[in-house]
Amino acid sequence: MTEETLSNLLHENRRFEPPADLAAAANVKADAYDAAAADREGFWAAAADRLSWATKWDRVLDWDNPPFAKWFVGGRLNVAYNCVDRHVEAGLGDRVALHWVGEPVEDRRDVTYAELQAEVSKAANALTSLGVATGDTVAIYMPMIPEAIFAMLACARIGAPHTVVFGGFSAEALGSRIEDFKAKVVITSDGGYRRGAASPLKPAVDEARGIASRSGHDVEKVLVVRRTGQDIAWDESVDVWWHDVVDSASPEHTPEPFDAEHPLFVMYTSGTTGKPKGILHTTGGYLTQAAFTHWEVFDLKPESDVYWCTADIGWITGHSYIVYGPLANGATQVLYEGTPDFPERGRWWQIIAEKKVTIFYTAPTAIRSFMKQGQEIPDRHDMSSLRILGSVGEPINPEAYVWYRHVIGGDRTPVVDTWWQTETGAIMISPLPGVTAGKPGSAMTALPGVTAEVVSDEGVAVPNGSGGYLVLTSPWPSMLRTIWGDDERYVDTYWSRFREEGFYFAGDGAKLDEDGDLWVLGRVDDVMNVSGHRLSTTEIESALVSHPKVAEAAVVGATDPDTGQAVVAFVILRETATADGVDLTGIEKELSDHVRSQIGPIAKPRQIMIVPELPKTRSGKIMRRLLRDVAEKREVGDTTTLADSSIMELISAGQATST
Ligand code: WT7
Repeated sequence: MTEETLSNLLHENRRFEPPADLAAAANVKADAYDAAAADREGFWAAAADRLSWATKWDRVLDWDNPPFAKWFVGGRLNVAYNCVDRHVEAGLGDRVALHWVGEPVEDRRDVTYAELQAEVSKAANALTSLGVATGDTVAIYMPMIPEAIFAMLACARIGAPHTVVFGGFSAEALGSRIEDFKAKVVITSDGGYRRGAASPLKPAVDEARGIASRSGHDVEKVLVVRRTGQDIAWDESVDVWWHDVVDSASPEHTPEPFDAEHPLFVMYTSGTTGKPKGILHTTGGYLTQAAFTHWEVFDLKPESDVYWCTADIGWITGHSYIVYGPLANGATQVLYEGTPDFPERGRWWQIIAEKKVTIFYTAPTAIRSFMKQGQEIPDRHDMSSLRILGSVGEPINPEAYVWYRHVIGGDRTPVVDTWWQTETGAIMISPLPGVTAGKPGSAMTALPGVTAEVVSDEGVAVPNGSGGYLVLTSPWPSMLRTIWGDDERYVDTYWSRFREEGFYFAGDGAKLDEDGDLWVLGRVDDVMNVSGHRLSTTEIESALVSHPKVAEAAVVGATDPDTGQAVVAFVILRETATADGVDLTGIEKELSDHVRSQIGPIAKPRQIMIVPELPKTRSGKIMRRLLRDVAEKREVGDTTTLADSSIMELISAGQATST
C-alpha cells in the first residue's frame, strides 16, 4: 500500500452508528470490554460455559510453558455433541441446521438438527467400521455438500483429527498434506459441480495417494461420496462408497468426551518457506472461542436468524464460521455449493432473497467484483431480510465497505470487518455490531478478551497516528497449539520476533489512527494475499524451479484492483532451454500451467516475466522490493545495495518490450 492511499484511508471520516434496536438487543454490549479486561480468564471461562462439558475444567489457562498453551485443563467434552446432539436434546431437533443450495439450480436439501444427528452418527459408525479409532487422522477433500460437514463432525465425534484440503488444490498439494498428516483415511467425492459441469475430485485423490505412498505413507481407505455420478477409477482394496457403508450404518452413536486439549483438526496454510504449515487446533478452547465470537460478532439470534458465510470449508473461515461456531450455537445457515455468478450474476442475491438471509459474511474480493458489475444486478432482488454484513480475508477498502453497506445492506446493516488468521482460530479484531460506530476500512479494536497491539521494531506500543507490527500480547483460547509435528518451527515462526516481550507476531503490519482505531495494512513477510487466500512466495518459487526449463525464480505479490494482490513471477531459464534454435513461444503458459498443477489454480501467476538475471544484494538476497516496482509498473526504487546495479535496467527494458 502506498503512503498516499494510506493517508487517504486515515482521513476517512464517515461513521456508521449501530441501529438503535440492534444495539438495545445486542448479545454483547459495551461493558464486555471492561469485564474482560478486569478478569480475562473469568471472561473466557464464562464463554466456555456456553458449551456443554462432560467434565468441568479445573484450571482455565496453563501458560506455565509458553508459548505452549493449555486451556480448560482437565475439562472433557465432545465437539459433535455440542454442535448437534445437545440442540436435539433441548427440543430443537426440527430446526433447520443447513439450507443446502446446490450449484444445479434445482438442487436443494434442508437438514434439520435431528437429521444432522442421524447423519453424523451414521458417518461416525461407518468410520469406526473402517478402522478409524480415536487419534487416527483423516483427510477430507470434498465439494460444498452436506456430507462434507457430516464427515468433519463424524471425525470430531470419534476424536479422529481431520485435515480438510480445499477442493481447488492440486493432487501434489493434497499428497503432501496427506503425507505430513499421515492420514489413515481420505474422504472425498467422485466430483463436484463447477459452472454447470461436473468436475472430478477422486482422480486427484488417487494420484495423491501415490505421492504419499512414494514417500512412505500408505492411505488405508478412501471413502467416496457419489455426487456427480461421473466415471472414476476404482481400487477394490482401498475405495469404499459412502452410500454402501454410511447409509446402512446405525443412526445411533454415543459420543465420548475428549480432553479439552485433544487435537480437533489441522489446517495447512502457507508460510514464508516452501513447506505449508499444519496449524493445530484443539477441542475446548477452539470451540469456546469459535462459538462465542460467532454469537458476539454476528449478534446471532439462533431462533430467528438465517446466517450465510460464503467461504469454502477448505479454509479456516469455513471451519470456524460454517461448521464449528454456527452449529455449536444452534444456528440455521445456508450452505452453497457453487460460484457467485453461475448460472447468472445475481445468484448470491437470489439465494439471500429466497432463504431470507439475515447475516451475510463474505470477502472483499467478491464485493469488489460485484461493484464492477454494477448495482442493477443486486437491485433486482429483495434483500431486506439482511441485518448484519461481515467481511474477512484482506483489508476492505472504504469504497467497497460503503458500497457493501449501501447496495447490499440497504444502509441499515452494520458492516463488521473481521481480522483473524488460520492460526488465531477465531476473530480477534472487529467492530461489535451493537456497540461500535463503524469506520469504513478499519477493523477497529480487539474484541473483549483479546489483547492486540501495534508495536515498533523494538516491541514498544506505537502512539496513535503511527504504524508498526500487529501483535497479540496474551494467549487466547482458540490459538494454534503448535505446527503439526514441528514445535520448533512453531516457536520460531510466531514467537521469536518479539521473544523477550512474549508477543505472538501475526505477520501483518497495522496502523492506529488518531482515535486509536486499527487499520490492518497487510503482510510484512513473504506471504501474499490473493483474493483473501494466503500464498507463499517461496512455495510458488519452488514450484517454478521444479520445472526442468527453470534455473531460478522470484515471486512477488503485486497490487491488483480485483484480487488485492496478484502473483507476478520473474524467471531465469536454464541455458539448455534458451540455446539457439529452441522455440520459446508459449513458455509463460507452460510455466503457469506447471504452477497450477503443483499447487492449484489459485496460485497461478497473473504474469510471468522471463529475465536474464535477478536483482540481488552482495550477500545474495533477492531484492523483491525492486521486482515489486517493476510488477506494479512504478519507477524502480533505490538500487544502491545491489551487487550489480545494471540489472534493473535489463529487467525493466525486457519488461517494456515484452508487454
Ligand atoms: C491473513 C490471514 C482468517 C480468515 C481468512 C484468511 C489477512 C484476514 C483480514 C482483515 C485485513 C485481513 C491478514 C492475515 N486478513 N482478515 N479483516 N483485514 N487483513 O485466513 O489465510 O490465515 O490469512 O489474512 O493478512 O494475516 P488466512
